[in-house]
Amino acid sequence: MTVTTEINGHSPEKLLAPVLSAFWDQPNSWALRTYLRHEGYEGMRKALAMDPDAVIALVKDAGLRGRGGAGFPTGMKWQFIPQGDGKPHYLVVNADESEPGTCKDIPLLYANPHSLIEGMVIACHAIRSEHAFIYLRGETVPVLRRLHEAVREAYEAGYLGTAERRRDKLGVDGLPGLDITVHAGAGAYICGEETALLDSLEGRRGQPRLRPPSPRSPVCTRAPLW
Ligand SMILES: Cc1cc2nc3c(=O)[nH]c(=O)nc-3n(C[C@H](O)[C@H](O)[C@H](O)COP(=O)(O)O)c2cc1C
Repeated sequence: MTVTTEINGHSPEKLLAPVLSAFWDQPNSWALRTYLRHEGYEGMRKALAMDPDAVIALVKDAGLRGRGGAGFPTGMKWQFIPQGDGKPHYLVVNADESEPGTCKDIPLLYANPHSLIEGMVIACHAIRSEHAFIYLRGETVPVLRRLHEAVREAYEAGYLGTAERRRDKLGVDGLPGLDITVHAGAGAYICGEETALLDSLEGRRGQPRLRPPSPRSPVCTRAPLW
């Protein structure tokens, strides 16, 4: 009997997910130094050199879609966010992942949290946001620890932080400051629903809001508790 150990020079395991999990088997796959050895933050550098609208157009053309269930086109979602309205814009990452049987966000964040942070820096540039949040399922304490450490490393490297620090570290003029807040939810399935998630993040009881307006709508404003 012949056993196939390689396909086109790759092991069958690598072919299962050749991009997302390509180096999860490396020592310290979650560390910045490992990510940088595997083309980490190169996409960010390219995106930050581009005009934000050009980044949105590129993502639209690439056909990137959300994994939240509806498969919504990412570039379109980014384009909905009104620009030039003088209001702050926030990016909120839904990493609650409480649906029974779902298992993609937590392994990704555990093995390679920097891939999320890089994506967030790119998204914030595209939608002109200076403050982003990650809402993580609170029971996943080891993931929370790695995420906090990855955010710390990203601040140290100047991917995050004040405008001056980012300019000095990244060598790109005209970037605004960028902060990421990691928030651990208390563990409620309903808080994965996007409007309940926002209420929970703002310190309210996590219950879905009546829609419209959608969270991406320009009229979806509500005074935060803090
Ligand atoms: C009860 C309920 C729980 C949900 N839980 C999650 C979740 O844990 N993670 C998630 O990404 N989306 C969840 N969603 C979907 C979100 O409301 C939203 O559609 C999603 O965050 C959009 O993701 P995208 O930006 O990747 O398309 C849930 C929806 C409902 C109704």
